[in-house]
Amino acid sequence: MSIEPTVMIGNACLYLGDAYEIRPQLGRMDCDCMDPPYKLNTSGGGKMRASRPYMDQIAEEGLDQDFDHNIINPLLCGSAVVFLSDEQLTTKMRHLEGGFARVKLCAWRKLTPMPVANKSYVAECEWYAHAWQEGYHPLGDLADKKRVIDCRSRQDGMALYEHATVKPDLVMDKIMRNVNGDRICDPFMGTGSTGVAAIKAGKHFWGIEHNPKHFATAIKRITEAVERYQPCIESGQIL
Ligand SMILES: C[S@@+](CC[C@H](N)C(=O)[O-])C[C@H]1O[C@@H](n2cnc3c(N)ncnc32)[C@H](O)[C@@H]1O
Repeated sequence: MSIEPTVMIGNACLYLGDAYEIRPQLGRMDCDCMDPPYKLNTSGGGKMRASRPYMDQIAEEGLDQDFDHNIINPLLCGSAVVFLSDEQLTTKMRHLEGGFARVKLCAWRKLTPMPVANKSYVAECEWYAHAWQEGYHPLGDLADKKRVIDCRSRQDGMALYEHATVKPDLVMDKIMRNVNGDRICDPFMGTGSTGVAAIKAGKHFWGIEHNPKHFATAIKRITEAVERYQPCIESGQIL
């Protein structure tokens, strides 16, 4: 099975459409690296609510709804990296443990989190699971193999790309150094953060996004990454 990409940019194939329909048609990948919709309660926030417009966008775009984890098919990928909200941890970890040889829970820590706790905790940690089959174990030196990434980045996804949940370059670059293999797919591509990091790491990328506005942002970001990094990689320069 094969499906024509909506856009091809260097080593990246981008698809505007539904992840559940398109991903099975793309065949086998080395890694499915995804930041899917979270299961979140976007209400509340007390006095700080007005300064958290990204929560409104999350709700408006349905990113507070859970996703169908059967899109992570262990027969179609050597490994999977999946960002998870607290509420998704139990069910998604169980799914990954059932289909992969090993699963490790990792996190990135926002060193400058929103100063809000209300009746819970400060949200300074975001989880992601890395699951792999034999032969697709994590790569990198000891520093890269740390499971918690400290991130002081002030990359404001809302201001830069009008998207509420953009992942920082620092986090995605580290994940791309960890994943084994060359064929990377992000079925919930958003503004293309996984794609940018994959291109920077000299990998091939397949991305799917159903929101035309975010898809256009991903095209712009990935075009810039291809123009900037691909010639250096092809000429053997170390980035
Ligand atoms: C949490 S965001 C990913 C953000 C991304 N990591 C970034 O840095 O920009 C999830 C994205 O998946 C998209 N999405 C949700 N359901 C989808 C579906 N069924 N098919 C394709 N895209 C979908 C949303 O529009 C959203 O942009």
